[in-house]
Amino acid sequence: MNPARDAILWAAGNPWLRDHLPRYRFIRATVARFMPGEEMEDALSAAERLAVDGIPATFTYLGENVETAADADEVVEHYLRLFDLIEDRALDAEVSVKPTHLGLELGAEGTLERLRRLAARSADLDRHLFIDMESAPYVEPTLDLYRRLHDEHENTGVCIQAYLFRTPQDVANLLAAGASIRLVKGAYREHKDVAIRDGGRIRAAFQKLALAFLGGAGAGRLALATHDVGMLTEIERGAAAAGFERDAYEIQMLYGIRAADQRRLAKDGYRVRVLISYGTHWYPWFMRRLAEHPSNAWLAVRNLFSRR
Ligand code: FDA
Repeated sequence: MNPARDAILWAAGNPWLRDHLPRYRFIRATVARFMPGEEMEDALSAAERLAVDGIPATFTYLGENVETAADADEVVEHYLRLFDLIEDRALDAEVSVKPTHLGLELGAEGTLERLRRLAARSADLDRHLFIDMESAPYVEPTLDLYRRLHDEHENTGVCIQAYLFRTPQDVANLLAAGASIRLVKGAYREHKDVAIRDGGRIRAAFQKLALAFLGGAGAGRLALATHDVGMLTEIERGAAAAGFERDAYEIQMLYGIRAADQRRLAKDGYRVRVLISYGTHWYPWFMRRLAEHPSNAWLAVRNLFSRR
């Protein structure tokens, strides 16, 4: 239980706040810590800067819960334009998409069709397409979509949340299917019946799942998406004891969070990748970043009182 986290996650889902807060300059200034800008070009430039340090990128065009099929189709067109620019600039970059941004609430078949188009274009570029994991009601439909997509496109992966009670079984199934996974702790406000809510227990579950996936020696990639460098050290110790080198998995972090650690890990020979989010629909995503680290709210307060 963390009341500050719960309050911020409540605000993330509040439509009035979603419509009003993003207008304030101090909020926009705070978002800049986690996002290089709202335009595709801002994200591409950030990836080019990371590439100088040998760090590849994953792009996410922000948005969720679209209301019409035409909006979901436009998201696909946006990503197809992004793939063209990734190719033109020879960037080592892949894409991760949210199912509700591709129309999951409007129907699974349409969403699968859109995922197929993006997976096929990713395959042209010899890249993986990843699927983000959203809140608990979307987990089963997302895994269903992923299973069907992965049957046709091996170059696909899905995000898995360590805090869910169901996850050990999901990981076992995904391992058996040769899937690629991005393991995270989990960013949503979930009920105690479906998710672990204690930080220490989530950490322990994450470590156990990471080592189980490695030990299962499946065909897919394993990405550990976390800024918890202490936990990563413990996983590395466990992996080494089981005979795995540090390049058996990837470490993924978010743009702007622990940037010095990102560069240090890449320099030390770890496979590091940074997820860059961009776009105008950043409010719920930004609030989840605040909830992960409520002291970020102080940054917002400082920006409120600063002159620029
Ligand atoms: P933890 O929250 O314990 O943070 C460890 C340390 O990292 C903190 O002490 C702090 O120093 C720093 N830190 C972490 N978050 C910070 C923040 N917001 N601001 C400032 N410092 C911060 N979740 C999900 O449900 N579905 C998804 O698809 C994804 N996708 C995803 C991709 C990638 C690449 C990452 C890194 C994370 C996600 N997540 C996610 C988010 C994830 O579930 C989780 O909420 C965050 O990663 C925060 O948890 P940590 O594991 O980083 O540990």
